[in-house]
Amino acid sequence: MDVRIGVIGTGIMGADHVRTLATSVRCAQVVAVCDLDQERARAAVAGLGDIRIAEKPTDVVAAEDVDAVVVASHDDTHEELVLACLDAGKPVLCEKPLTPTPDGSLRIVAAESALGRRLVSVGFMRRYDPGYVAVKNALRQGAVDAPLMFHCVHRNAHARPNLPSSALISGSAIHEIDVARWLFEEEITRVTVHRSRPSGRVVGDTSDPLLLVMETASGVLVDVEVFVNAQYGYDVRAELVGESGTLSVDDPEAVVLRTARARSTRVFQDWRDRFADAYRLELQDWVAGVAAGEQRGATAWDGYAAAAVAQAGVQALETGTPSRVHLEPRPRLYQRLTDQD
Ligand SMILES: NC(=O)c1ccc[n+]([C@@H]2O[C@H](COP(=O)([O-])OP(=O)(O)OC[C@H]3O[C@@H](n4cnc5c(N)ncnc54)[C@H](O)[C@@H]3O)[C@@H](O)[C@H]2O)c1
Repeated sequence: MDVRIGVIGTGIMGADHVRTLATSVRCAQVVAVCDLDQERARAAVAGLGDIRIAEKPTDVVAAEDVDAVVVASHDDTHEELVLACLDAGKPVLCEKPLTPTPDGSLRIVAAESALGRRLVSVGFMRRYDPGYVAVKNALRQGAVDAPLMFHCVHRNAHARPNLPSSALISGSAIHEIDVARWLFEEEITRVTVHRSRPSGRVVGDTSDPLLLVMETASGVLVDVEVFVNAQYGYDVRAELVGESGTLSVDDPEAVVLRTARARSTRVFQDWRDRFADAYRLELQDWVAGVAAGEQRGATAWDGYAAAAVAQAGVQALETGTPSRVHLEPRPRLYQRLTDQD
């Protein structure tokens, strides 16, 4: 039987998830969607068959024909909606960040722990990207021996005017924070943030780009260049340096064009092209998990830990000094550091 899904928030990301679920994920059926902007909800389901447009998010959560919920509305709505799903006993895939600050995520962790079973998955889709998965497998197999450093680049073409500088950390670099925890299977303990001279292309007063330097518990250094007005496209890359070699994640294989004495490949426009496979694989695994009664992918604890690192990063940005990451003790429900293991 298909897993019947309700999607809350049908903006850029939610509409993409609705289309992927409806067209490319086995045993999934989108039965209801909801957005504060009804026009956006209508546009998201156009041409995808019989999908109900609910008036309120709580209608989606409560609906008898909804087995599981995707939350892709704005960050500050996640806590309330995820808690409502827990109340209703329904599995939920919540887009990243789980909540804008760690205290909200901690309330979700507490509610889920009280329930005694994991229902929350967080949309850290890079855990499903074939490139990152290959790096993790190679690392585990000892291809480069022990890890020492992880150099990351995270560039977007354009950001909205006056984007708060903190959003470069809590909205963008949070992906690298999660990937580092997942790859190295340990926590990040300290964050330092450096500002370059701001790019003249920035509209407003966003401090862009930033350079984050994070340290893991065992002493691996993770640096992330976050540059959200890079102009030329969406570009995410990483190189892991080990004791005997390196492992790189670059763009997925693309056609190489040779013409007029030049060789070129395309640069992606945004995350939806670059991580299309990852989103599809994430949704497929989540649906399979719901059908099997298992939580898959990043847990609420992962969402909490990433938010705590991001908060330390924002503090480091504001103070100009290194900031320690504070984590509450991990409840028994989340014994393993990551759920992929
Ligand atoms: N995993 C990723 O790579 C990735 C990429 C982009 C965005 N995101 C996350 O996805 C979420 C959505 O981002 P987006 O870029 O699609 O934003 P968006 O602004 O395009 O869409 C958000 C939509 O949510 C709707 N909404 C807000 N509050 C609502 C509520 N209470 N009930 C119903 N609908 C509500 C808005 O009307 C809007 O249409 C954010 O949490 C964002 O951080 C994740």
